[in-house]
Amino acid sequence: MPALRAAAREADFTRSCEERTGSLLAVLAAACPGGRILELGTGVGEGTAWLLSGMDSASRLVTVERDQAVQQVARQELRSDPRVTFVTGDGGAWLRNYEGEPFDLVFADTWPGKFSHLERALRLVAPGGTYLIDDLDPRPDWPTDHEAAVERLLTDLESREDFRSVRMAWGSGLLMAVRSARNRER
Ligand SMILES: C[S@@+](CC[C@H](N)C(=O)[O-])C[C@H]1O[C@@H](n2cnc3c(N)ncnc32)[C@H](O)[C@@H]1O
Repeated sequence: MPALRAAAREADFTRSCEERTGSLLAVLAAACPGGRILELGTGVGEGTAWLLSGMDSASRLVTVERDQAVQQVARQELRSDPRVTFVTGDGGAWLRNYEGEPFDLVFADTWPGKFSHLERALRLVAPGGTYLIDDLDPRPDWPTDHEAAVERLLTDLESREDFRSVRMAWGSGLLMAVRSARNRER
C-alpha cells in the first residue's frame, strides 16, 4: 500500500479510505472465501488494495470509478492481479445496468449506491452478504445539507427488515449491514 499512498499524495487525492477502514475491508474480504466483491468508487485504489489483501485466490473484485485519471493510478499499480476487474464509468449507470450474480461484500464508497441508487445496491447483496459504508461522522467541511442526508440514510438502513446493521465508531464512522438469511428455505 505505500506505493498507492505515495501516488495518492502525488495526485493530490485525499479521499482514500482510512487505514482502519482498510483493515476492516481486508477482514471482511477474508471472511468470504471464493467471494464476489464490489467496490463503488475506486479512487486511486487504496480500498481496492486492502480488499485484495484479504481475498483468497478464488475471490473476485469489481471496482467502479467515474474518473478515468484517478482510476488509472489504481490500474497501474494493481493491473497484474487477475482477481480485480476495473470498470470506468458512472456508478449509477453501472448499478442500473448490472444483471449478473449478487455480491458477498459491497463497499459503497461514492454517491451512487449510498445517497442514490441505494435500493439497487442493496439488491445486489447476497443473503448473508455485507454492505459497508464509511465517512459517516460529521466533518466541518460538509455542505450544510449533508449531515441530514447521512442521518436519513442511516435511519433508512437501520429500519430495514431485510438487513441487520450496526454503526461503528471506527475510522471515519462506518455502518455495516448484513442481508438477513432468515427468510431462506432451510
Ligand atoms: C471516497 S473516494 C473512493 C475511495 C476508495 N474507495 C478507497 O477506499 O480508497 C470516492 C470516489 O468516487 C468517485 N465517484 C464520484 N462520483 C462517482 C460516480 N457517480 N460513479 C463512480 N464513481 C464516482 C470519485 O471520483 C472518487 O474517486
